[in-house]
Amino acid sequence: MCGIIVYSGHRPAVPLTMDCLRRLEYRGYDSAGIAYIQQNKLQVIRSRGKLDQLEEKIGQHDVYHATTAIGHTRWATHGLPTETNAHPHTDNNKELALVHNGIIENFQEIRNSLEQRGYVFYSETDTETILLLISDKYKHIREKANSEDEAIARALSQALQEVEGSYALALINLNSPNEIWGARHSSPLILGAGTGENFIASDIPAFLPYTKDVVFLEDGELAKITANGWEVYDASSLNRIDKQINRIDWNVQSAQKGGYKHFMLKEIMEQPQVIKDCMAGRIDSANQRVILPELDHVSVPEQVHIVACGTSYHAGLWAKYIFESWSRVPVHIDIASEFRYRDNIFRENDLVLAITQSGETADTLAGLRIAREQNVPVVGLCNVMGSSVARESDGVIYTQAGPEISVASTKAMCSQMAAFLLLALYWGESKGTLSTEFLQNSIQDFISLPGILNSELARMQESGQEFAAKYSRSRSFFFLGRGINYPLALEGALKLKEISYIHAEGYAAGEMKHGPIALIDPEFPTLAIAPHDDLYTKLISNLQEVKARSGPVIGLTHPGSDLNLEDKWEIPKMWSALNSFLILPALQLFAYEMAVYLGKDVDQPRNLAKSVTVE
Ligand code: G6P
Repeated sequence: MCGIIVYSGHRPAVPLTMDCLRRLEYRGYDSAGIAYIQQNKLQVIRSRGKLDQLEEKIGQHDVYHATTAIGHTRWATHGLPTETNAHPHTDNNKELALVHNGIIENFQEIRNSLEQRGYVFYSETDTETILLLISDKYKHIREKANSEDEAIARALSQALQEVEGSYALALINLNSPNEIWGARHSSPLILGAGTGENFIASDIPAFLPYTKDVVFLEDGELAKITANGWEVYDASSLNRIDKQINRIDWNVQSAQKGGYKHFMLKEIMEQPQVIKDCMAGRIDSANQRVILPELDHVSVPEQVHIVACGTSYHAGLWAKYIFESWSRVPVHIDIASEFRYRDNIFRENDLVLAITQSGETADTLAGLRIAREQNVPVVGLCNVMGSSVARESDGVIYTQAGPEISVASTKAMCSQMAAFLLLALYWGESKGTLSTEFLQNSIQDFISLPGILNSELARMQESGQEFAAKYSRSRSFFFLGRGINYPLALEGALKLKEISYIHAEGYAAGEMKHGPIALIDPEFPTLAIAPHDDLYTKLISNLQEVKARSGPVIGLTHPGSDLNLEDKWEIPKMWSALNSFLILPALQLFAYEMAVYLGKDVDQPRNLAKSVTVE
């Protein structure tokens, strides 16, 4: 949801900023821009559309002398995705330029007051409001301040106290060209500490090729970088804060396409490794048990409340089935944007589980905070180390999936399911709800799962291609499943609509007859998740109802199934819930191949953003 990158160092800042922006483009891609200082002038280049369009414009300028720059890639909130609304914005004196991610809620009020005092606004954005407010403060403070540094710090501090909403922002100042300031409140911002160069960015992959040493900024902090140093201050008092440097173990290759045409395909294909990485250090194979040291201090809850959005929500819905069946822990699950405005009932010994790949989703973070205010312990299930949810939770389970770049989430869900499977076994063992034989079977099969999945993915992709081509003219799709396959049906439908723009609905197969079946006709296909499990025969009856109305059906099933369908898609059979780890990539590959077949922009679908840091 908008990507910010800031650089101060010894290299040409503009090409470097563009390189970093490419790794942030997944956060927003409707317009982009950069600002830098060269020949004592603040230069801004902006463009609507993707980074290639900006790159083309940059090519018409001599940009090689600047060594500080700020860059932005936008996901529009206030104002259309036009060049005028693109960031960076500049103040009326062309001294300051600012990039912003988030939403300023009281922007209209501030804008009215600034306009009355003669400030001119050129865009429809809320961002320009903060900038002109800072500029206004700066103008007054500057006359009395001892240095530019002091003036800008005080102007930022005062302006931010008047602003309501969420922001991560960065500011470059013509009058002190080597320093760049950043600030955050409820939107992510991370500092990258290099040698002779420093960075501030929305996300770690942005600067990963240049440094792995990061400083996680907190709400209410200001950061200043120059080529040779960085400092963090309390945004209100402007007192220095000592911050710790964390070394990130992600490798650069993991944030690159590695020969694949799209990040999405690469991330789907990485899933066998993702399962292994999630298991790493969490299985005591000698004793056939799960170990989760990160939860040593968290006792088995009497009830779990799961809070999540998007694909993470579907992973949570999947977890409900195994937590209840294996660990006998009742689960309430909510979409975070609903949870945060509901009158939740918490009891003693309840636990909130916040599931989020990015750890920055605004609604999930709000849900976490509500729980903590009511003294309910929160465990975060996150992928991104040091993210807001990870830092604010009482305990965190990292899914260890490595950076996920494609906007449509794939491997993150696989890693979340892997973590839940471990957690269900861990709680089940602690509560004594699982037999030793069940535990052993699960662990052994889980260990063999990555190998089986790995040998199957290429075949799955071929089937995905074949079915996508056959059904590419469909304007709508149903995805049906029962029991633990129901959340997967929801996810299959979400993936298809996200990247191919085909209307798709996921339904519990047994619910079809209560309305949706009215839509079925020969042009409205159904993808049925029909593994050989306890609910197989029930699902077959539901499919008969679809077929009786001439609806075409693709059956995703196990070898040897007696499904009487023209389109059978067979995947290997595994034990119990482990089947889901083979069903999920099949659904992902179907959506992927459909989007490729239809020529859609797979990694950056229209209107979406990877990390939704606004409400
Ligand atoms: C956005 C992304 C989805 C993701 C959801 C939740 O909508 O496009 O792919 O599932 O946010 O993200 P989180 O980082 O909280 O898992």
